[in-house]
Amino acid sequence: MMENIRVPSRSSASEFRATAEAGANIALTKYWGNADPDLRIPANDSISITLDRVRTVTTVTFRPDLPEDQVTVDGKPLRGPAWERVSRHLDLLRDRAGVSWRARVVSRNNFPAGAGIAASASGFAALTLAAAAALGLELSPRDLSLLARRGSGSAARSIFGGFVLLHTGARDEDAFAEPLHSPDWWDVRDLIAVVSQAEKAVPSSEGHHLAPTSALHQARVARVAELNRQLLQALAHRDFAALGQAAEEDALLMHAVMMTSRPSLLYWLPETLAVMHRVQAWRREGIEAYFTIDAGPNVHVLTLPPYADHLQVSLRALPGVQNVIPCRPGPEARITPNSAE
Ligand code: PMV
Repeated sequence: MMENIRVPSRSSASEFRATAEAGANIALTKYWGNADPDLRIPANDSISITLDRVRTVTTVTFRPDLPEDQVTVDGKPLRGPAWERVSRHLDLLRDRAGVSWRARVVSRNNFPAGAGIAASASGFAALTLAAAAALGLELSPRDLSLLARRGSGSAARSIFGGFVLLHTGARDEDAFAEPLHSPDWWDVRDLIAVVSQAEKAVPSSEGHHLAPTSALHQARVARVAELNRQLLQALAHRDFAALGQAAEEDALLMHAVMMTSRPSLLYWLPETLAVMHRVQAWRREGIEAYFTIDAGPNVHVLTLPPYADHLQVSLRALPGVQNVIPCRPGPEARITPNSAE
């Protein structure tokens, strides 16, 4: 279990600075649609694995002389709604600390952003932790998770390592994530088959608003409650078939909601579908592999160590697969001395 964050030594009296690192996570049951859009309270509980290889490092520096927040992601300055989202998130933390200084934010991902590898999860988890530490806020992991959720729902889960549950709730303070099992509980592998590195046309933050326009949304929310019960059992007993079936089913349910919302969101490419067919064919041949897909075209292939090397080679050989990123359960978000600048 994480300790409360420690207040770092500030770099000087005239600036407050900290750097944090967080892993992306892959949802086994998805957060799709809000119970409260303003507070980003998810419509349903979701369960995820924080990943080791796909990470964001973010340095936040608050200074008295900055006229406005400056945000750079992977070397590119953010503008417009993306910048506003980060700046509003910093306001939440500034309000808590009673600080009005603007900040310079420099963030780096080691994976393509905006292509269904949930950069917003690792991004807002790292941003929340770095900003809280820079401001000297003493926050529990639960408080950090609640705050990260306000930036991006899935970021609430990336505060923790390993296998994580994000609760929905009636009030802001009820919707936080908590760790279920540590990363070394179970060596589940996630082979991310990258079929496109393009930015997605409709970001998930917009997609959540469309979920209720699908006739399937309420049916999915009801079904996810049962899938979460199955997943908790599967995780406790390390039952991979049960985990894979629940994850694959909810990925298909979420994409059915996306496809049938108004307007329709169709994130799959022909290559996405080719990987999905292959995974199901491998399963019929006795290979333990299941797919899940976030709000993008890339396919996460869940498997176990005996199959991982062979599957990685086979996935790379599929037409349209540009790259495969092999991931394992990874650690919680943490403060690091390595600046992103
Ligand atoms: O946190 P957001 O707003 O990027 O939403 C995440 C949406 C999915 O990645 C599709 C599902 C999930 O639970 O991670």
